[in-house]
Amino acid sequence: MVIGASGQIGSELVVELRKIYGQDNVWGTDIKTPPADVANEGPFQVMDVMDDKQLIHFVIRHKITQIYHLAAVLSGNAEKLPIQAWNINMDSLMNILEVARMVEDVKKVFWPSSIAVFGPTTPRISTPQLTTMEPITVYGISKLAGERWCDYYYNKYGVDVRSIRYPGLISYKTEAGGGTTDYAVEIFYEAIRNGSYASFLKEGTALPMLFMPDAIKATIDLMEAERSRLTIHSSYNLGGFSTTPEEMAEKIKKHIPEFTISYQPDFRQEIAESWPKSVDDTIARMDWGYETQYDLEKMTRIMISEVRKKINP
Ligand code: SER
Repeated sequence: MVIGASGQIGSELVVELRKIYGQDNVWGTDIKTPPADVANEGPFQVMDVMDDKQLIHFVIRHKITQIYHLAAVLSGNAEKLPIQAWNINMDSLMNILEVARMVEDVKKVFWPSSIAVFGPTTPRISTPQLTTMEPITVYGISKLAGERWCDYYYNKYGVDVRSIRYPGLISYKTEAGGGTTDYAVEIFYEAIRNGSYASFLKEGTALPMLFMPDAIKATIDLMEAERSRLTIHSSYNLGGFSTTPEEMAEKIKKHIPEFTISYQPDFRQEIAESWPKSVDDTIARMDWGYETQYDLEKMTRIMISEVRKKINP
């Protein structure tokens, strides 16, 4: 069962999981309308993860064995409605952890954390797994608290919950919306639509990024890994590649020579400057063989051609 099946990660994860487990064996759920393939090529249910009664009935009725809980309010949006975002991000996770604790059929849970758990007092280059964590955003605070709860449910109740601190995720199928790293997606749409992009982050703002196929593979690999090999029960650091708005613009210019970038930083600049520039993911590599296939150049080539197809089908 994938909660958030209409979102940026979920809409791609459902399709990959159905390839592995069979189309009828992967439920997508969301409060939003999903893309056509998610809705038509397997079971889909409109559901609000905040409704704990509907959630537990659904999980029992459909004999759910694994839950991927991907629904969340991202960093930029959460700053606009802090209390609502906190309630959504925390209560939904607690509902899932409780269901996993109570329903015996549920064997594993996946819940995404983020580089947003780090803050201005964290070392920003090659950020270690274990380090100072003083997040300055509501989103980051909710992810850090969530990590602690995941670790608590693992230790206290033996709930097998697995998690990744995703860097910025770049993809073309479904737009994320509301994240600080989302300039790295918007830039492609604007480059193709208008030949220019006004970045909400300044020149020189380095952040770690990951292309969606690598993120999906990492997620499934972590969930498939033997439990005894996993040493982290809060959330695994994951690096990807580190890049800046101007480096992305340079790569895009190779495909669209007339492309220009300008800089109009907004409130998300401060958030970006509190996050790592790069992340040390040695433990993920050692514990479950994490590796990536896509760098900035390969990702850019695919994004340009796929976003072009979307805009001019
Ligand atoms: N990409 C997310 C955001 O920017 C961080 O997890 O909000």
